[in-house]
Amino acid sequence: MKKGMAVLLCALLVATLAGCGRPLTGTEPPKTIKIGISVYDQYDTFVSLLNERFDQFKREKEQQTGVTITVLREGAGGSQVTQNNQVEAFIRDGCDIICVNLVDRTDAAMVIEKAEAANIPVVFFNRELVEEDLERWNKLYYVGAYALESGKIQGEIVADRCRQNMAEVDINGDGILQYVMLEGEAGHQDAVVRTEYSVSTLIAEGYAVERLEDEIANWSRAQAETKMAQWLATHGGAIEVVFANNDDMALGAIDALKKANVERWPLVVGIDGTPVGMQAVREGTMTGTALNDANGQAQALMELAFSLAMGQPLPAEFTLQEGKYIRFPYKTVTAETLNLYEDFYK
Ligand code: BGC
Repeated sequence: MKKGMAVLLCALLVATLAGCGRPLTGTEPPKTIKIGISVYDQYDTFVSLLNERFDQFKREKEQQTGVTITVLREGAGGSQVTQNNQVEAFIRDGCDIICVNLVDRTDAAMVIEKAEAANIPVVFFNRELVEEDLERWNKLYYVGAYALESGKIQGEIVADRCRQNMAEVDINGDGILQYVMLEGEAGHQDAVVRTEYSVSTLIAEGYAVERLEDEIANWSRAQAETKMAQWLATHGGAIEVVFANNDDMALGAIDALKKANVERWPLVVGIDGTPVGMQAVREGTMTGTALNDANGQAQALMELAFSLAMGQPLPAEFTLQEGKYIRFPYKTVTAETLNLYEDFYK
């Protein structure tokens, strides 16, 4: 009789656990997973592109595996406090994995503490947190790119054009490249590193430079247009090179150049290779850009989130460096290489 009761209790326990969603280790993998994604600003062009690409890869993964992937997505509107609250809500809503595009890269503590307490892995992306924070727990990851490469590519694009035809670039013929810099955002890893390496690469290539202006335009096309319009009013045709930390700001500078009807167009270099950015390279208004691999990053983010949630290994084409990082190289896009990227976002 006692034995019969014990068997019944065991059966009940197994049935209850099986009904709890998350299967026991060693049993069937889950049929549905939930991913919470919070982005610093849902209106950022590059971040929107990452979101779009993520959704596409997610749909493909669902078709391949039959697993339903529910995505809860929030925009933090530029507030770290809002983002912290969103992460708390993801935990309450039973997300298996949380993906965070940090508002403030120096302020990841809250996100990490909450996630660790709930034992939910976090994949940070695009806005690289400080290394010590990433070291705080063994279930923290980062997907992004090597900022340094993008700055170098900008410097090389300009140096190449100078080598081809210095007289065309050096409008006033003084042998010095007068440039303006549109910076993304105070303290953003990409902004700081791109600003430094674009110019230092050009100098290392043997060109003398003179900075006419350098200001923050928050990755924004509209803000960059305003700055560039002011600079054109101040410096007239003296601007020979426009370095922009991203394509949107390069496009803002181009908007101002078009309106100002400048006689000689400066070199304008961006970063990202967004569809609109590549279109400007095609039209010849943008000299070149460094392709920030939104496809690779979005796919890696999705695959990493998926494998963590499913308790499966990451597909072989993605390698976790130091057990934490997945980064993608930037690629040079100019009129000469554009044809390689025609179908990049298709
Ligand atoms: C991109 C920018 C974007 C920023 C947002 C950068 O990597 O190049 O276009 O605005 O990330 O964090």
